[in-house]
Amino acid sequence: MSIKELDKKYIANTYARFDLQITHGNGSLVYDENGKEYIDLSSGIAVNTFGMADSVFIKAVTEQLNKCQHTSNLYYSEPCVKLAELLCQRTGAKKVFFGNSGAEANECAIKVARLWASENKGEDYYNIITLKNSFHGRTITTLAATGQDVFHKYFCPLTEGFLYAEANNLDSVEALLKENKCAAVMMELVQGEGGVMPLSKDFVEGVVTLCQKYNTLLVIDEVQTGNGRTGTLYAYQSYGIAPDVVSTAKGLGGGLPIGACMMFDKCENVLSAGLHGSTFGGNPIACAAGVSIIERIDNDLLSSVQEKSKYVFDTLNGCVGIKSVTGMGLMIGIETEADASLVISKCMERGILPIKAKNKVRLLPPLNIPFDLLKKAIEIIKEVAKECAQ
Ligand SMILES: Cc1ncc(COP(=O)(O)O)c(C=O)c1O
Repeated sequence: MSIKELDKKYIANTYARFDLQITHGNGSLVYDENGKEYIDLSSGIAVNTFGMADSVFIKAVTEQLNKCQHTSNLYYSEPCVKLAELLCQRTGAKKVFFGNSGAEANECAIKVARLWASENKGEDYYNIITLKNSFHGRTITTLAATGQDVFHKYFCPLTEGFLYAEANNLDSVEALLKENKCAAVMMELVQGEGGVMPLSKDFVEGVVTLCQKYNTLLVIDEVQTGNGRTGTLYAYQSYGIAPDVVSTAKGLGGGLPIGACMMFDKCENVLSAGLHGSTFGGNPIACAAGVSIIERIDNDLLSSVQEKSKYVFDTLNGCVGIKSVTGMGLMIGIETEADASLVISKCMERGILPIKAKNKVRLLPPLNIPFDLLKKAIEIIKEVAKECAQ
């Protein structure tokens, strides 16, 4: 049986896979089982920060693998301390908890918010306001945080205490804060799975003011927007705000599973021994990968992400067959006149791999994608969007 047949037989049927098996890659190029080459425009959904088989990444990971692959959290270990120190230095966070995924980073953020509220406001202040059209993960609690009914169906009752406000509508946030006892407001600054929709700066600044007025924490989910993806190390930095908790994952490990919950001044000390934990959290190999990734996301790389982003926006805006281009940095959503799935399948035939977000063609290329490959890919998208619209 082929890999595709075996997959259908043995793998839980939770993914609608493209008819493509990726066998290997090199930088921003990936190859299928027949040797066909593709320009990778999704980097494993914003995970492979520096593409495939990157030599710096391989060195960092294999050096650690040759020393020690796991210790348990019963002992001190260098890589997780180094990564936490680096994250704190680059963000101003005071403490970091490591898990293995975005959902776990958010679970920790939610626990921290509730702990903080129960210590500072009272145990009944457990509600967390999130936004409609958000996505925060697939566990029962992060599904509850996700403000989209479509993900809730079949899994009720979900964790209690999540309330959904309209994105970019401050009145809607304030009404919920006024009427309910709240611990936090939690949001993505660019709703990724929701169709690559950035929140307006005014709205985000308004939420900061409301959080101060109602004495709640501000939790920013940077699972997808973080780690250089939007042109600053974390997206909140480009909004010029100071959150209380930031969760991240995906690109942090450059392809290895890791999630991090960063706690800032207000909630620096809310977690104490025994309140949270994870067997694999802080795994030395994932953390060694994380150190190498964060060290490389320097000002030069971030400027190049911004430059490439501007190129994509300038080139695609106003083109035939393209209705709108949204997003930030190298997290871009293209609304095409033709159905996005059709555009994506034609793009795949032509050797480029974008993915979908809601009704949009989504681009999340490796941050170091060479300009010539990006240009080639964008030209193909332009042509395909036009052809499909006719
Ligand atoms: C904003 C956001 N939060 C959380 C998650 C969940 O992350 P994971 O799939 O690593 O659990 C995702 C995944 O797409 C995400 O985009």
